[in-house]
Amino acid sequence: IDSLEDYRPAYHFSPKNGWMNDPNGLVYLDGTYHLFFQHNPDSNVWGPMHWGHATSTDLVHWEEQEIALFPDSLGTIFSGSAVIDKDNTAGFGANALVAIYTNHSHEIEDQKTGLHQTQSIAYSLDQGKTWTKYEGNPVLPNPGIWDFRDPKVIWHNETQQWIMTLATKQSITFYASKNLKSWERLSEFGEGIGAHGGVWECPDLLRFSTAEGEKWVLLVSINPGGPNTGSATQYFVGDFDGKTFASAHNDIRWMDYGPDNYAGVTFSNTGDRKLLIGWMSNWEYANDVPASTWRSGNTIVRELGLSKEGDKWLLTSTPASEIDKVSEVTTKSKSVELTNEADLSDAIASFGNTFDASFTLKKATGFHVTLTNEEGETLVFGYDAAKQQYFIDRSKAGDANFSDKFIHRPVAPRLVQGDDLDIRFLLDHNSIELFADGGKSNMSTLFFTKKPFTKLQIAADEANTLDAFQVKAIR
Ligand code: FRU
Repeated sequence: IDSLEDYRPAYHFSPKNGWMNDPNGLVYLDGTYHLFFQHNPDSNVWGPMHWGHATSTDLVHWEEQEIALFPDSLGTIFSGSAVIDKDNTAGFGANALVAIYTNHSHEIEDQKTGLHQTQSIAYSLDQGKTWTKYEGNPVLPNPGIWDFRDPKVIWHNETQQWIMTLATKQSITFYASKNLKSWERLSEFGEGIGAHGGVWECPDLLRFSTAEGEKWVLLVSINPGGPNTGSATQYFVGDFDGKTFASAHNDIRWMDYGPDNYAGVTFSNTGDRKLLIGWMSNWEYANDVPASTWRSGNTIVRELGLSKEGDKWLLTSTPASEIDKVSEVTTKSKSVELTNEADLSDAIASFGNTFDASFTLKKATGFHVTLTNEEGETLVFGYDAAKQQYFIDRSKAGDANFSDKFIHRPVAPRLVQGDDLDIRFLLDHNSIELFADGGKSNMSTLFFTKKPFTKLQIAADEANTLDAFQVKAIR
């Protein structure tokens, strides 16, 4: 690479300067999608948190705006959510944009009480440009829980109240409010269920309608304790009755098995669509990845769905269809008999690692895709049929030794039995997002090669047919 700036993603959001982690306050308002984010504007490592702000009208191109929320006397500004208060329940005005976030005061010397995380609110009447913090903050004081953060608020129509889903140590606690200002504790979920390798963070509660009626999904990011070490997001499918969440299963499930998709949450005010953005990094090494004046990008916006496999409801995530509107099909429906390695370099050679590719394989045999650049660096991903696992091998994809925590070959189980494989992968300078089997086994993974890939080769372990190979250039 000529400069570390070359790692900057082209069609994923990254901050112009400074550090970014979790997406916050995702909300749709009057034709614009708002992305707020954990931001340290003064340094490229984590530090005093602000809410940065970016906007988009197409969910792919983002424009950075002025910082929305600055630290105050109650602390720095940790993760949280935003809602449109259509009925003016809080009294800030009809359709006020209200942010619900965690104030974190641990850095403030005289407040090392263990009660350093509280929930506060702020509102904006001008599309998120300027914000007023509520004078009665915090709206939810700390009851004595060290990790007490990341409020995600939704409107629950049946009970005519707001529901807050809050991460409380290694559980989720639900609260209710009529006005966003005073909150009542409802219930707690998480003991004896799910992955507990680390603290629970950034939850989200989603309602789906299915052929079998209503299902609820609870997303819970955990760190550490992910399937490929470090940070990852698990999910539970179950029921929520306005008060209590009950999981319909005991097994542990992951929204994305890759090491680099964390703290993902969905937009509010998008009707039935569940559109999620994750932070494309991992706390194990996030502060150490090669970087210049900025650090970290987000995942592509994903649409979440539920799909039934046997008697299990699985969460699916696939790139939001908006990406198709800004991409141009450059190779269409190519079909290749895979006896030896097939060379498909023509399809990607000129796209500088910014494309969206997909194909199917007629049989679920093992396969691998090798991407190579002029420096001979390779990124390899594929399917190991004996282990029924997808994998991404980034050990030879450029700088992979800046941290011994940078896991080299993450894997994901295949969760379906079908005979054919369907694969989609999106590249953007220093990341690959792999979606297999309709978004049931996913892996998001960073890498740090010196040059873009110019070669694409695909080989199968046994004779197979590659079909519907398609590449789209993303502009
Ligand atoms: C998750 C997290 C949140 C917290 C924020 C601080 O990545 O640890 O729990 O609010 O980051 O930046």
